[in-house]
Amino acid sequence: MQILRLILITHVLIIVLTACNPNPPSVINYADVPREGDVAQGEILFTSGKNSAPPCILCHIPESPASPDLAGFAERADSQVEGQSAHEYAFYSITEPAQFIAEGYGNAMYNQYDEIFTPQEIADLIAYLLTL
Ligand code: HEC
Repeated sequence: MQILRLILITHVLIIVLTACNPNPPSVINYADVPREGDVAQGEILFTSGKNSAPPCILCHIPESPASPDLAGFAERADSQVEGQSAHEYAFYSITEPAQFIAEGYGNAMYNQYDEIFTPQEIADLIAYLLTL
């Protein structure tokens, strides 16, 4: 229970902090991201994060009111933005989250992953997301 409370407090803090940031265009081009990724590696990045960046799982926990539950993401990803494949939508969701705000949520996602992850790491994360 204690740990859950701690996660919740951190979660709220990060949302408050990131909500104040503008979201500049991604410094990584979609064209530079490999189409193939390593799912296991993606899962590690998702749960552990990298350097000072918060791990995705900090916000994307089931039944969080503030962040979408990513269960079923693979099925809805290619119909979120017209003209964007599931892979491309996942890319922009990570690198430029303000480009499209998932329905029912605020622009509160951490927005500097494009400066933290390499193109291969983003490909790994996408590969993992598309298994959900
Ligand atoms: C600070 C909390 C936070 C963190 C950390 C975070 N996200 Fe998000 N994420 C959100 C919120 C809030 C949204 C909904 C708003 C939006 O679409 O940008 C979202 C949206 C998304 C979406 C689109 C969901 C949909 O249903 O269309 C994906 C995919 C996603 N995040 C993946 C990730 C990945 C991968 C990471 C880690 C690299 C990550 N997120 C880290 C809060 C977070």
